[in-house]
Amino acid sequence: MASEGPADIALIGLAVMGQNLILNMADHGFTVCAFNRTTSKVDDFLANEAKGKSIIGAHSLEEMVSKLKKPRKIIILVKAGQAVDSFIEQLIPLLEQGDIIIDGGNSEYTDTQRRCNYLKSKDLLFVGSGVSGGEEGARYGPSLMPGGHPEAWPHIKEIFQCISAKVSDNNEPCCDWVGNDGAGHFVKMVHNGIEYGDMQIICEAYHLMKMILKLSNDEMADIFADWNKQELDSFLIEITSDIMRYKDDDGQPLVEKILDSAGQKGTGKWTAISALDFGVPVTLIGESVFARCLSSLKNERLAASEILSGPSTTMEFDVGGDKKSFIDDIRKALYASKIVSYAQGFMLLREAAAKFDWNLNYGGIALMWRGGCIIRSVFLGNIKKAFDNNPELQNLLLDDFFREEISKCQDSWRNVIATAVKLGIPTPAFSTALAFYDGYRSGQLPANLIQAQRDYFGAHTYQRIDNPGNFIHTNWTGKGGNVSSSTYNA
Ligand SMILES: *[C@@H]1O[C@H](CO)[C@@H](O)[C@H](O)[C@H]1NC(C)=O
Ligand SMILES: *[C@@H]1O[C@H](CO)[C@@H](O)[C@H](O)[C@H]1NC(C)=O
Ligand SMILES: *[C@@H]1O[C@H](CO)[C@@H](O)[C@H](O)[C@H]1NC(C)=O
Repeated sequence: MASEGPADIALIGLAVMGQNLILNMADHGFTVCAFNRTTSKVDDFLANEAKGKSIIGAHSLEEMVSKLKKPRKIIILVKAGQAVDSFIEQLIPLLEQGDIIIDGGNSEYTDTQRRCNYLKSKDLLFVGSGVSGGEEGARYGPSLMPGGHPEAWPHIKEIFQCISAKVSDNNEPCCDWVGNDGAGHFVKMVHNGIEYGDMQIICEAYHLMKMILKLSNDEMADIFADWNKQELDSFLIEITSDIMRYKDDDGQPLVEKILDSAGQKGTGKWTAISALDFGVPVTLIGESVFARCLSSLKNERLAASEILSGPSTTMEFDVGGDKKSFIDDIRKALYASKIVSYAQGFMLLREAAAKFDWNLNYGGIALMWRGGCIIRSVFLGNIKKAFDNNPELQNLLLDDFFREEISKCQDSWRNVIATAVKLGIPTPAFSTALAFYDGYRSGQLPANLIQAQRDYFGAHTYQRIDNPGNFIHTNWTGKGGNVSSSTYNA
């Protein structure tokens, strides 16, 4: 048997995230072996940030592997895609049965599924872990979402839970085993989608306060700060208050000088694409992605703003003379929309779990997002409670707590959207959330007509309410001429 090396774990990829994760692990008493393909990076790191800590370096993968305790644990933190596969290929001949490769990058969950299957065939264990919280999180406590081969978990659990963010009085780690194969990266993807949604609903609240109530940025900063002490207490509301208050050199609010054209790296888009693939109505995240797309058509919008008219109602619209109560309505609209968005996100998780046979722990996922990451909030503690109360909960909206919260908010929610519609202020996320809510609570929707139309032009057949077991085709015209289902496919 080869001698056991001194290091508990190795990490490949010394960009800021990688360095910070290594420093975080070292702070918690683990010995970490650092590697980068450009070996001068290793020497720089050892001579500077890592100096005096339980961090050692390696100048080749062979050397790195020789310095690891068994089973060897190696985190790869490089650009998602080909680079991950390339390191896996180089590591395979150096490792032995039961060694563990962990991909901590932003990989697509389908890649993680493929790598799990591949490494199983090589008798190696693979973990794909979502890592959220940015550089700061990596250094002082990220949210970690590991999934893959469950046999790996007992070996990495201590390190992962030690370095992750902690929440609540019990110091619970924001890290637990998510599920098989791509589950960790899937949950990370949904986290990113929810982040898009949370940001969009905050933007809509800001837009309404600015356009309808004509509030100053300092007033809005105070309002967000106040909301941050209530049920909306969260990282994103907190930073929004800071942003509202921040002044440019001339004393004017900086945020008003920023071009209103949003960028995106695609992770929200992946969530929306999965939602379409799985047929789950994750409408708020979808609208949030589209809202960014629309924002980026800045020149087209500027041109259209000169041509297309809006409602005749003036902006002096009377919100009941009571600014304070309309501000409260906006808060409730934001909160209700947020509940719908998370309900939709968990619907997508449920569907993926059913499809891939993942045994997802939904309360555990809420806890993983509770701290360390961008969507961290008090609200996620309530979601955890909902799933603790009923692990089989079909939909968050059906939980007693959330059902009552929405019911307390809904008059305000409807008032805000109706007002915005009258004044021509777009609220795509608030509105789609309410439309979903109204659809989900409807025992009867007009899809009977869709079925009739499909049968009329394409003979796609339909089911009768009084005889749902049979699929029936009706000759709708009775005027001759065949309709064929092979010519249309709608
Ligand atoms: C090496 O380090 C640089 C940053 O110093 C990083 O950008 C790169 O991804 C790392 N690459 C590998 C393969 O270790
Ligand atoms: C539909 O009904 C008309 C009139 O009764 C008949 O001529 C035609 O063949 C029917 N078409 C089909 C597809 O059964
Ligand atoms: C309708 O379909 C039947 C069976 O396929 C065929 O015999 C008949 O000629 C078609 N009639 C017309 C008007 O196309």
